[in-house]
Amino acid sequence: MTLVTQRPEWGQLAAHYGAVKELHLRELFAQDATRGERLTLTAAGLFLDYSKHRITDETLGLLLNLADACGLRAAIDAMFAGQTINTTEGRAVLHVALRTPRGATILVDGENVVPQVHAVLERMAAFSNQVRSGEWKGFTGKPIRNVVNIGIGGSDLGPVMAYEALRQVSDRNLTLRFVSNIDGTDFAEATRDLDPQETLFLVASKTFTTLETMTNARTARAWLLAALADEASVARHFVAISTNAKEVSAFGIDTNNMFGFWDWVGGRYSMDSAIGLSTMLAIGPEGFGRMLAGFHAMDEHFRTAPFGQNMPVLLGLLNLWYGEFFDADTVAVLPYDQYLKRFPAYLQQLTMESNGKRVTHSGEPVDYQTGAIFWGEPGTNGQHSFYQLIHQGTKLIPCDFIGFLHSHNPLGAHHDMLMANMFAQAEALAFGKTAQEVAAEGTKAELVPHRTFPGNRPSNTILAERLTPEVLGALVALYEHSVFTQSVVWDINAFDQWGVELGKVLAQRIIPELSGPEPELRHDSSTNSLIRRYRAARGG
Ligand code: F6P
Repeated sequence: MTLVTQRPEWGQLAAHYGAVKELHLRELFAQDATRGERLTLTAAGLFLDYSKHRITDETLGLLLNLADACGLRAAIDAMFAGQTINTTEGRAVLHVALRTPRGATILVDGENVVPQVHAVLERMAAFSNQVRSGEWKGFTGKPIRNVVNIGIGGSDLGPVMAYEALRQVSDRNLTLRFVSNIDGTDFAEATRDLDPQETLFLVASKTFTTLETMTNARTARAWLLAALADEASVARHFVAISTNAKEVSAFGIDTNNMFGFWDWVGGRYSMDSAIGLSTMLAIGPEGFGRMLAGFHAMDEHFRTAPFGQNMPVLLGLLNLWYGEFFDADTVAVLPYDQYLKRFPAYLQQLTMESNGKRVTHSGEPVDYQTGAIFWGEPGTNGQHSFYQLIHQGTKLIPCDFIGFLHSHNPLGAHHDMLMANMFAQAEALAFGKTAQEVAAEGTKAELVPHRTFPGNRPSNTILAERLTPEVLGALVALYEHSVFTQSVVWDINAFDQWGVELGKVLAQRIIPELSGPEPELRHDSSTNSLIRRYRAARGG
């Protein structure tokens, strides 16, 4: 298949880049008084201002031509139709089915999966209501007050992000904790103040073989049994969430206490499957349904809107514009909302595990940049930390600002100050401050270069009324589909993750070498020496 760089549409974009790369946002805004209103879009409760991008109308047209030439329309249709687009794992990719309303039809291997999705949602709802009402009792008859989700990657990051994001609508009588790291500290600290009699563990793992999760789950069982001293207690305190019933039974969890999902749900796309049980326990089935409705609204927008007015398509293409032509390696995600504090961490797996690929679908090495590095922190904390580099450093870092018109905690003037900072940062990045402006303020000549802001640093601003379950769903789906858009243009598989395998295999080989009789070490000299040093410190 043709590499995207060989397409005429790519060549046209490259030539166009040469013509516009020096254009400053100051000029672009001066040329068009309506730019700030014109380059905006509303979808699924989200408002996007993309006017502060180093683009002209021609740039947009060329980016859209590239998307067309790469078959984005057909790719979207194939995903929604349940075709096997995850070619290296031979799977359909149907996270969109998880939020499809009852009554719709999506076929996988000739079977409609929508009724299955709703059957699991109903079981989750019944279970959540039992726990939330106190009807579900622990082994000694006490109601559940603590829920500990044990999972990692997609079985952790989505749930913890959603829990933090939706705390304002969560049941404050339930304490939720999340254990992911194989570092024993994670489990120890998460459980040290919990009463086992009132604690429910959700063991969340698509495969139910992940080393970290299985190790933490075994530790959790030992912790419970140390207090309750009866194997029968496991059934009241452990629930499994998995696609692998065989491994769930082998672990000792009754499959009646299992909530399933399907191999067509990728781990990092699974927060609205049963993997979201912790979210449903926190915000209730009704709140969870609202979140799914937000996801679905953005899905429908992505599926049906013309690409020029399609928010995930535009977001994806704009990121690609900087990554390919301006050599931007990273994207900063800057939520101006404390409830979104885990959103950048969540996005890191979504974007980087999806698009961190170096070969095309047919296995050919790419000769262009793929997935950017995503990172970020909630505003305004980042402003007092790394924004210096974004404003005056040598690297171009496109930013996504995310903010809300209303706060859930309207204390005094806090929200005005928060939002003023967000608007100000985007303005300062785009327009900067010229040397003449700095000098005109009476700045000493030798300080002028230090106090000059070049500007021309692009950003998106995403606004919504307030952070509700619907808005969170729409926001996550926006990024999911923008990741997919990019992967289609790059002709890479956004839904596999072979790059995580080698380290896992090597760790399995090293684990037995760290204890017991001196092994014959056959690694490189560095790894051998690190293992010896560790063994020596541990007494053999
Ligand atoms: O190692 C990467 C990964 O496979 C992720 O893709 C996944 O989200 C995570 O591990 C956890 O996997 P599981 O849900 O099967 O435990």
